[in-house]
Amino acid sequence: MKIAIVGTGYVGLPTGVGLAEFGNDVVCVDKIAGKIEALKQGQLTIYEDGLEELFHKVVKAGKLHFTTSMSEAVSGADVVLLAVGTPPHPVTKEADLQYIYAAAQELAQYLDGYTVIATKSTVPVGTGDEIEAIIKRTNPKADYDVISLPEFLREGFAVHDFFAPDRIVIGADSEKARNVMLKLYKPFEGKTQFLLVGRKSSETIKYASNAFLAMKIHYINEMADFCEASGANISEVARGMGLDSRIGNKFLNPGPGYGGSCFPKDTNAMAQMAKKFGVHLHLIETTIAYNDERKVEMAKRVLSVVNGNPEAKIAVLGLAFKGGTDDCRESPAMDILRELIKCSHNVSVYDPKAMDNAHRLIGDSVNYAADAYEAAKNADILVILTEWEEFRHLDLPKLKEIMNKPKIVDLRNMLGAEEVCKNGFEYCCIGRKH
Ligand SMILES: NC(=O)c1ccc[n+]([C@@H]2O[C@H](COP(=O)([O-])OP(=O)(O)OC[C@H]3O[C@@H](n4cnc5c(N)ncnc54)[C@H](O)[C@@H]3O)[C@@H](O)[C@H]2O)c1
Repeated sequence: MKIAIVGTGYVGLPTGVGLAEFGNDVVCVDKIAGKIEALKQGQLTIYEDGLEELFHKVVKAGKLHFTTSMSEAVSGADVVLLAVGTPPHPVTKEADLQYIYAAAQELAQYLDGYTVIATKSTVPVGTGDEIEAIIKRTNPKADYDVISLPEFLREGFAVHDFFAPDRIVIGADSEKARNVMLKLYKPFEGKTQFLLVGRKSSETIKYASNAFLAMKIHYINEMADFCEASGANISEVARGMGLDSRIGNKFLNPGPGYGGSCFPKDTNAMAQMAKKFGVHLHLIETTIAYNDERKVEMAKRVLSVVNGNPEAKIAVLGLAFKGGTDDCRESPAMDILRELIKCSHNVSVYDPKAMDNAHRLIGDSVNYAADAYEAAKNADILVILTEWEEFRHLDLPKLKEIMNKPKIVDLRNMLGAEEVCKNGFEYCCIGRKH
């Protein structure tokens, strides 16, 4: 099948690579010329585990192309996937739909033959209706259906999740469109659950899922606060909870608060969308407020360990919003770092993949180190903010030797407390004494 993907970012690129691997002819279009040029030159524009090898393979096979021209991508396509951003509106916090509506208007001119326009971007209920209307206004003769095809991939696992999704939700009110999508996703038959639902339900499933996951993180963070006050150990409590199959053991790791390009924006968008329908989503609203507060509290916790001394050198490990990605959008690590910079002149940072993205966000207000040890040299405190696997294996005796003071604040509970203390560190983590 010929597939056009509009928006070549964290969703569009891995999806394009995956669909090309299944033998489809895929064209990814983006309005950022530099991004398309880099991809044409064979340079990946995002970091995702396992993406590079597959990318080169499908490009070499002539199955994946890149362009800035909407007409080139969309003309003759059987399916157009919309994967543009739906960022939060800076004031209202609703999903800002200007990019998706602009893309719909632009692509409408080039539709020829029956085409399914599938929205992968996360969009509020009713957006499909509006996209349909825009296309109708722009090109009254076009033969098309608009469906919702929510994306559930996890950054850092995008390639894995493309090939082994928990479910594929197809929100289509047209039988013809549904059949086209079932043909496209035929390689997944018998391997995953297909859920065929109405378009509005599909749009809601995505928000309801993300909001639930955000609340689960919020919940375990609140339990961690409780454990700190009561003397219980959050790791033991989480393990005990997770063994209940009704609860499940995922998303029960306490930390500095949720972040990333999805949870903060989607919880806000869900809450705002509900208000428009006259519904108050109290749990989600509380989650949003608490999560914002938590990051400030975590920064205070770090600063208290150095008694607020502005000269103290703070070494920060981890900037991405989670391990396995270079994405710093709405990263709790970046929010905490911003708080630390307000109070300290001497902050050194290191992240295995996210240094460039972090630099774009905070510029030269910190020192960028080549590795964890360079960051930690002469530091008065080492703070772990992102759960990169390599931080689990830090050489503690070496750290002890190069740091000014042996203090570690581990906001991801990555290190073994016993081991850290045995090596002479003062250790502070989340939801447990050690
Ligand atoms: N990132 C994730 O893990 C994830 C997971 C599930 C769903 N989503 C949703 O998918 C959507 C895309 O997210 P993302 O993280 O890939 O965003 P992104 O910012 O990485 O990529 C979006 C791309 O769309 C391009 N674009 C915008 N308007 C365009 C136009 N008119 N024509 C061509 N290109 C255009 C932008 O230049 C950008 O490169 C969002 O709605 C997001 O909520 C994201």
